[in-house]
Amino acid sequence: MSAPVPVSAVVDLDVAGPTINPHVYGHFAEHLGRCIYEGFYVGEDSDIPNEGGIRLDVVEALKALDIPNLRWPGGCFADEYHWMNGIGPKQDRPRMVNTHWGDVEENNHFGTHEFMALCELLGTEPYVSGNVGSGTVREMSEWVEYLTRRGDSPMARLRKENGREEPWKVKFWGIGNEAWGCGGNMTAEQFAEQARTFATYCRDQDDNRLYRIAAGASDDDYGWTEALMKTVSGLGGKGVEERHGHAPIQAVSFHYYTWTGPTWDQKGSATQFGTDDYYRTMLKAQGMERVLGGHARVMDAYDPDKRIGLVCDEWGTWFDVEPGTNPGFLYQQNTLRDALVASLHFDVFHRFADRLVMTNIAQTVNVLQAVVLTDGADLVLTPTYHVFRMNRRHQGAASLAVHLREDAPARDVDGEQLRTFSASASVRDDVALLSLTNLDAEAPVTLTVDLRGRTVGEPTGEVLTAADLTAHNVPGQATAVEPRALDGVRVEGSTLTVELPPHSFATVQLPLVG
Ligand code: AHR
Repeated sequence: MSAPVPVSAVVDLDVAGPTINPHVYGHFAEHLGRCIYEGFYVGEDSDIPNEGGIRLDVVEALKALDIPNLRWPGGCFADEYHWMNGIGPKQDRPRMVNTHWGDVEENNHFGTHEFMALCELLGTEPYVSGNVGSGTVREMSEWVEYLTRRGDSPMARLRKENGREEPWKVKFWGIGNEAWGCGGNMTAEQFAEQARTFATYCRDQDDNRLYRIAAGASDDDYGWTEALMKTVSGLGGKGVEERHGHAPIQAVSFHYYTWTGPTWDQKGSATQFGTDDYYRTMLKAQGMERVLGGHARVMDAYDPDKRIGLVCDEWGTWFDVEPGTNPGFLYQQNTLRDALVASLHFDVFHRFADRLVMTNIAQTVNVLQAVVLTDGADLVLTPTYHVFRMNRRHQGAASLAVHLREDAPARDVDGEQLRTFSASASVRDDVALLSLTNLDAEAPVTLTVDLRGRTVGEPTGEVLTAADLTAHNVPGQATAVEPRALDGVRVEGSTLTVELPPHSFATVQLPLVG
C-alpha cells in the first residue's frame, strides 16, 4: 500500500446551508428487463413470499433505505405505455410488446393499482411518468383524474369499480421522458409547447396538488433546459399560466449516465476492469458537478428566485450487460466502483441543495446501477445499496459546506484532473454527518477536519471498501462488500482525524454537544 495522503478541510458546524431535499435519494422502476417482473413483482401465485404479487424481501430491503419516492413506469417505456391497459381484472388486460426493451411480451399485470400498492408497502411517494410521445392529452388528464379525484366523475367511478374507493395522493408527475429521443424525437421548442399543453390538463383534483416535472435534457444539453425555462418561467413571451389554477410546470429534469468506453457498444464490463478504466469511470462521474452546475446556471438566469425545481430523474452507471443475458434487459453487476460513483454523486447533489429537488437512480432492482439484485428467490444488496443506507441521514438535513484546502489530491486522467478525495456534510437534530470518499486506488488518506462553531462529542463511523475494486456481492457471497465499523476516527479538541483506506467510502457521525 502507498503512503497515506494528507487531506485537510474546514467545516463550520454552525453555518447551516440549504436543506437537502429527501427526494434527492429517489428511485426508479421501469418495465425493463427484470426490474418490475421478477424484481418487484412475482405474482400472487409465486412461492416467493409476496403481498398481492409484490415480493416482500425487496420491500424489506428498500424500507431500510427510507426511499422517498419511486418513479414509474419509465423511462422510454413510459412513452409507449397506455395506462388503461393496466387496470381491471388481470385476465382481461390486453397484452402488448415491450418494443423498446427486449421485444418481449408485457402482460400488464403490474399496472396502476399494483404500483400504488407497492408505494404503500414501501412507505414511499409515487412519481408517475406520463406518456407524451405516443399518448394523448386526454389520456394523461384522465390518468390524473383516475388516481386523484375524490368527487364523482367518470374516472373516479372507474377506479371505484376496480376496487379502490378512496383516491390516492400523487404529487410527482412526469410530463414525458427523453423527448429528444425515445420520447418522440422532438426539438426542445416543440416539446416545450407540448409540455405546456399536457401539463395544463393534468389538473389538481380536489385537494391533491401535482408537482409537474417536464422531461429534460441529456447530459450537458443546456439549450434544452433554456428552451424549457423560456416557456415555463414566462420569459419566453407567454407568461406562466396561473390563471387556469396552476402554473403548468413546477420542475425540469435532465439525465446523466456514467458510461465510458470507446463507443456505446463497447462500454466495458461491470466487473472486469483495470485501474485505468476505474479512474476513467470516476472522471465521468465527477462530470455530474459540471453538468448539474450548467443546468442550474441556465435556470438561475430565468428563475433567480428558484421557484422551479431541477430534477435528475435518471443517473448511474451504464456498462455492458452481463454475458449471456438479453441485451435489451440492461442487467449488470455492481461492484465497489459503482458504490464510489454513487457516493461522488451524492456529494455533488448535496452541494446543489438550493436548486436540486429530486434525483432518481437508474434503476432500483436488476437494471443498470441497481441497489438490489435478485436471482429467483435469492436477493443480494449491492455495494451501491450500502451507500444509500450509510447516507440516509442526509435526507432532509441542512447542508454544511466542506472547505477542502487548495492542495487536495488530484491525478491526471486522459488530460483532465480527477479530484481523488470528495466529501459532503449535513446536520440534523444535533448530529452532523460527514460523507467521505477516497478514490485513490492505492493510497490511504489521513483526513484532518477543523470543526468550527460547535463542540462535538464522541464520533462514530462506518466504512465501505474491499481488497479489490471489482469486488461484488452474489448469492452465496452476499456480504463480500458490506460496511464495517471505521477504526481510526477520533476528535481531539476541535480537530477530527479520520484514516480512510484506499478506494473507500466512509460516513462519520458527530453528536453536537455544545
Ligand atoms: O434507464 C434506462 C433508459 O435510459 C430509460 O428508459 C431511458 O429514459 C434512458 O435512456
